[in-house]
Amino acid sequence: MQASDLLKIAKTYGDPVYVYDSEKIVSQYQRLTNAFKGVKKLKLNYAAKALSNISILRLMNSLGSGLDTVSIQEVELGLLAGFKPESIIYTPNGVSLEEIEKAAALGVRINIDNLSVLEQFGSKHPNIPVCIRINPHVMAGGNSNISVGHIDSKFGISIHQIPHLLRIVDLTKMNINGIHMHTGSDILDIDVFLYASEILFETAKNFKNLDFIDFGSGFKVPYKTGDIETNVEELGQKLSAKFNDFCKEYGKELTLAFEPGKFLVSESGFFLAKVNVVKQTTSTVFASIDSGFNHLIRPMLYGSSHEILNISNPEGRERYYSVVGYICETDTFASNRRINEISEGDILCFRNAGAYCFTMASNYNSRFRPPEVLWHNGEAILIRERETFDDLIKNQIDVKNLFSKKEMKKEKATAK
Ligand SMILES: Cc1ncc(COP(=O)(O)O)c(C=O)c1O
Repeated sequence: MQASDLLKIAKTYGDPVYVYDSEKIVSQYQRLTNAFKGVKKLKLNYAAKALSNISILRLMNSLGSGLDTVSIQEVELGLLAGFKPESIIYTPNGVSLEEIEKAAALGVRINIDNLSVLEQFGSKHPNIPVCIRINPHVMAGGNSNISVGHIDSKFGISIHQIPHLLRIVDLTKMNINGIHMHTGSDILDIDVFLYASEILFETAKNFKNLDFIDFGSGFKVPYKTGDIETNVEELGQKLSAKFNDFCKEYGKELTLAFEPGKFLVSESGFFLAKVNVVKQTTSTVFASIDSGFNHLIRPMLYGSSHEILNISNPEGRERYYSVVGYICETDTFASNRRINEISEGDILCFRNAGAYCFTMASNYNSRFRPPEVLWHNGEAILIRERETFDDLIKNQIDVKNLFSKKEMKKEKATAK
C-alpha cells in the first residue's frame, strides 16, 4: 500500500489510527507455509495475542490457520471468529484449573505448563488429551522481557522434571498428545531453534501417543528496509529434515506446528499519528505526537525500534528528531532519529505496528483507543471504531450520592 492511501485513511477516519494490510498477512502466511513444504503435516496456529481483532482472526481462519490462545477470552474470540475448537490450542501460564477446565469443555486443545495443574487436570479428566509445554532451558530472544525458555523463566515444565512429569502421566493414565516449547521472541539465530528442537525430540520419545510437536514461535522480523530477520527458508529446510527423521524413528507421521504472531502481522501494520508540537530545546528537537504509550508501548516496554516516516513530507530535508508522546511520563518512541523535516500537523507513520500494538493499548490518561482499519483489495475497511467518552465510563459506577453535600453533612454530624 502507498503513503497516499495511508494519508487518505488518516483523513477519513481521523488519527491516531492503526492500518493493517491484508496482502502482507497473506504473503507472510504463504512464505512460512512454503518454507516447511518438506513436511507432510504442517499446522500454523496464529498467536491471537499479537493482534486479536475479530476480522483479522477471520482472515487467518480463511487461510487455513489454527489459533494459539492464552486466555479463555481469546478462546471465545476464536470460536466467535469461526475457528473450529480442534483448531484452537490454549496455552495459558499460571491460570486457574477452573479456567483450563472451561477451555477443555469448549473442546479446544489444552497445553499445560506446570506439574501442579497437570496432576490436578489429569486426575480429574484422564480422558482429555493434553499437550505439555516444556522449558528446554535455552536463552533466546531479543530482550530479557521476551526470553521465556531459560532456566529462570516462569514458563514451561523444566526438562529436568521429566521423571516427575512421567510419574504423573503414569499414575493418572492421562494421554499426552503434543509436546510444545516457546523460547522467546525476536530469535534471529536459527541454531537456537535447531538446538531446542533436539531437546524436544528427546523429550518426545517418552510419549507413545503424540499427534504433534509444537515449536512455538519467535521469528525475528525486519523493522526497516534491509534489516536482519530470521531466515525461515533455511530453518524450514533444516528443521523439516530433522523432523522427518524423528517421525521415522518415532514410527508415526506427526504434525509440525508453529504459533507465529509477529511473523504474520507485524509488518502488515502502520500506526498513524499527527504531530501536535515541534519543540526546539537547547539540546533536542522534539516532535510531540497526538498519542503516547497508551497506544504503542513496545519501545518503552522492551526497546522495540519502530521505523518512523513523515508521510506528509517524504521529500523534505532529513533532520534529527526525538519523537515523543503526550503522556505524563516520559514516553519516547525514538531519540535523535533522522526523519524528513517535520511541521506541526504532519502525519507520522510507525511501521511494524501490526503485532502487540493495539492489543497492548490502554486508556491511560483517560484517552480513547484508536480505530483499526483493514486495507483489503485496495479498499479501506473500518474494523474497529474509535472509542468515545461513553466507552470510557461504560463500566464505571458513579457513587455521586455518597459524596453529595447533604450526605457529607450527615456524616459530619454523626461523627460529632
Ligand atoms: C506461547 C507463545 N506462543 C507464540 C507467541 C508468538 O510469538 P511471536 O510474536 O514472536 O511470533 C508467543 C509470544 O509471546 C507466546 O508466548
